[in-house]
Amino acid sequence: MKIIIDTDPGQDDAVAILLALASPELELLGLTVVAGNVPLSLTQQNARKICELAGRPDIPIFSGCDKPLQRELVTAEHVHGRTGLDGIALPDPSMPLQSAHAVDFIIDSLRREAPGSVTLVPIGPLTNIAQAFRRAPDIVARVGRIVLMGGACFEGGNITPAAEFNIHVDPDAARIVFASGAPLTVIPLDVTHKALTSREWIETMRGLGPVGQAVASWTDFFERYDRAKYGSEGAPLHDPCAVAWLLEPALFSGRFINVEIETESRLTLGMTVADWWGVTGRAPNATFIREVERDRLFDLLARRIARLDGHGSG
Ligand code: RIB
Ligand code: CA
Repeated sequence: MKIIIDTDPGQDDAVAILLALASPELELLGLTVVAGNVPLSLTQQNARKICELAGRPDIPIFSGCDKPLQRELVTAEHVHGRTGLDGIALPDPSMPLQSAHAVDFIIDSLRREAPGSVTLVPIGPLTNIAQAFRRAPDIVARVGRIVLMGGACFEGGNITPAAEFNIHVDPDAARIVFASGAPLTVIPLDVTHKALTSREWIETMRGLGPVGQAVASWTDFFERYDRAKYGSEGAPLHDPCAVAWLLEPALFSGRFINVEIETESRLTLGMTVADWWGVTGRAPNATFIREVERDRLFDLLARRIARLDGHGSG
C-alpha cells in the first residue's frame, strides 16, 4: 500500500512515522510536513530527525504550509514542548528537505500513481491536503482513501471544549477535506483516548535500542500533560492509531456516518459534528472510529518498533 503521511511532529506523530517505517506492508512515498504542534520551521526539522533516528535518510520529506488557510496558527507547545519533540535531544538532521513544496508533491504523486493506489494519512492540521484539493480538484477522484487522526464526538475536544486540535487549527481546510467525497476514515479522540500507554509498555520500549528509548522518552514527556489534565495513567497515542488502522483495521470499529465541520461559531470552531445516531438525514461521508482493542494495538506497536532496533520481525 502506497501512502503519504502529512504530519506536524509531535511525539505521537513520531511514533506513527516509526510504525510506518517498520511496516513492510506500507510504501511511504514521502512525508509532507505542516505547521501544527509547533511552527513549520520545527516540524520540518523534526520529521528529518525522526527519519534519521530510524536509519531512513532516504525518505523524501517535503515542507508545506506554515499557517492555516485563513486563520492564524495555533500551536501546542504546552503539550509537546518548545521543540515539538521534547523528551529526548536528537542530533540536528543532516538529510536535506526536498526542494518541491508539500502541496506540489501531493498533487504530482496522485497524478503519477495509479488512480486509487495512494492513501493519504494526515495526522496534523489538514492545510496541505486542502490546498492540494483546491489547486488540483482532479486529484480528489484519484485518492484511494484518507485516513486521518482528528475530531471527536462523545469525547469532546482537547484544545477547546468542543474541538480536537488538528481540526481546530484549520477548520476551513477540514471542511474542504470532509466535503471532498474522497473515501474517509476518521480516527478521533473517541478512540485515541482508549489507546493509552502503560508503564509496562513504556519500559518495554526503553529496553530496546535507540529507537525504543526515544519512544519511551517521548512518551514519558507527552504523558505528563494528559496525566495532569485527565488524571489518567498513560498517554493517548493519537497518531499511531491512524497507521495501525491501515495495518490491522480489524483492531478497530466504528460507523459510516455524516461528519460536518463547524467553521463559523466562536464557541465551537473546529468541532466535528458527527451524526453517530443518524438523526440529521445528512449523507454519510466518513467511517468514524470509536473502539480499539487496546492490548493488541500496543502489542503491534511494540513488535514493529522493536524491528527498527533490530529485534525480531514481529
Ligand atoms: O489532538 C491530537 C492531535 O493533535 C495529534 O495529531 C497530535 O500530534 C496533535 O497534532
Ligand atoms: Ca500530529
